[in-house]
Amino acid sequence: MVLVVVLKKCDNFMMAPKIIAIDGPAAAGKGTLAKRLAEHFGMELLDTGLLYRAVGRKVLDAFVEIGDDPKFFSVIAEKIAQNLIPADLEVDGLRTDQAAQAASKISTVPEVRAALLDFQRDFAMNPPNRGKGAILDGRDIGTVVCPDADIKLFIFASTEVRAKRRYKELQYRGVEAIYARVLEDMEKRDARDIERDASPLIPAKDSFQLDTNNLDADRALAVVLDYIQNK
Ligand code: CDP
Repeated sequence: MVLVVVLKKCDNFMMAPKIIAIDGPAAAGKGTLAKRLAEHFGMELLDTGLLYRAVGRKVLDAFVEIGDDPKFFSVIAEKIAQNLIPADLEVDGLRTDQAAQAASKISTVPEVRAALLDFQRDFAMNPPNRGKGAILDGRDIGTVVCPDADIKLFIFASTEVRAKRRYKELQYRGVEAIYARVLEDMEKRDARDIERDASPLIPAKDSFQLDTNNLDADRALAVVLDYIQNK
């Protein structure tokens, strides 16, 4: 008993959770936090947004227009999602805004989401490279993909703060961007993620909700590690 208390209080001996689910809107700080947690605990990381981006990219590559009406792209998007392989997540061009918008539209199709469920759950249950556990970040991990995750985090910040972060990130990567456009695209994507019927973006009831408006990456990690240690 004494040993357990001592281990719990000692950061180096913090037990790695088996599954950590991280959800939240774009540029809230999920990705950075997920990477830092994965390094800290030696866990394997799956950025589930990449799955949706890869499906969106492949639909565009098939010269199918992704407009506002899913009936024109839902069948091909479902087929592509059913046949997605890990190598599809390694291709160039998944981080572009075009891929993000495509992902946001194909992700409203319930059949696409269903087709990607097994991939995500398999990763969570059997993390590659004998990882000590799995971290998945996305929009519906704590609510739908891994409802039994040991740790559920919901990371958020105001739309303006997130748009500024994304704008800076684009500038850093040398991508030309206009702030007003970045803000507008983010608002559109948020609305689609929150309002869709299939697995909308909402915090899981038992999630730890972290407002990163005034937190840098180091501080966010420290707050979350403290939460995990004391849970
Ligand atoms: O990196 P960023 O947060 O901008 O986006 P992302 O995580 O790569 O996700 C791109 C889009 O995929 C999101 O806007 C969602 O519409 C969709 N997505 C989803 O529906 N469910 C997930 N688990 C992950 C992403």
